[in-house]
Amino acid sequence: MNLPSDLVIISFIKVTEKTLIFWLTIHQQKEREVKMKLLDALHWRYGVKQFSDKKVSEEDLKNLLNATRLSASSYGLQPYNIIVVESAKIRKQLLPFSYGQDKIAQSSHLIIFAAHSKVGDVTVDRYIDKHALITDKSHQQLSNFSAHMKSALSNKTELQKQEWAHQQAYIALGNFLTCAAVMKIDSCPMTGIDNAGYDLVLGLDKKGLTTSVICPIGYRNKDDMQAHSPKVRFDYDEVIMEL
Ligand SMILES: Cc1cc2nc3c(=O)[nH]c(=O)nc-3n(C[C@H](O)[C@H](O)[C@H](O)COP(=O)(O)O)c2cc1C
Repeated sequence: MNLPSDLVIISFIKVTEKTLIFWLTIHQQKEREVKMKLLDALHWRYGVKQFSDKKVSEEDLKNLLNATRLSASSYGLQPYNIIVVESAKIRKQLLPFSYGQDKIAQSSHLIIFAAHSKVGDVTVDRYIDKHALITDKSHQQLSNFSAHMKSALSNKTELQKQEWAHQQAYIALGNFLTCAAVMKIDSCPMTGIDNAGYDLVLGLDKKGLTTSVICPIGYRNKDDMQAHSPKVRFDYDEVIMEL
């Protein structure tokens, strides 16, 4: 052994090994914490019946909407828009179409997930334009991809296309609910509304949109009894089938 340099190298390796194990343990611990936080957040959230006056900050709202914008969608086509309504006046107009659910007006913001009402080549062309811009590919390079998506959509009836667009909006809603919970923002997904009334008040027809589902957000009222109701969910084995 060529002392002392070999000893130095061996002790260096040992220290490095210990440091590595230390950082790995910390990293694993952090990963476990993130997983626990996610589950805690999902246990914490519930469909709020009564909101408080507290407003969601602009920054939190932007972050939540940005996270929602990253939702997955079929072929990535994102055939929906997300409308944020803060105006008390508009929400008052929406009240008669909300079957007495005044939380749409009490909450901090009302979010409307609205599907595109025209689905087809126009949906694909819009996406391909964006795809070309982001990936720096030519329309020619994307032509097979485009044709494939157009053909898949053209095989659907008008009703199926509309249904498909609503499904994509619901995926965004699911993601929105989880992200909101992680950010400790309360919410209540809602379909107990008159969709046509919402379309009318919000002028969605002219925008080529139609209401899929809505979701008031904000912070739970301390008097909201629903907060104390136990979660009613089927057990793991009743939901998950392992084949
Ligand atoms: C698509 C959808 C529509 C819903 N519509 C309403 C609604 O109109 N009003 C309401 O108070 N809750 C509504 N909810 C909330 C559900 O009742 C609630 O999520 C369910 O009972 C499970 O309870 P939890 O979310 O509080 O854990 C809706 C939920 C979903 C996902």
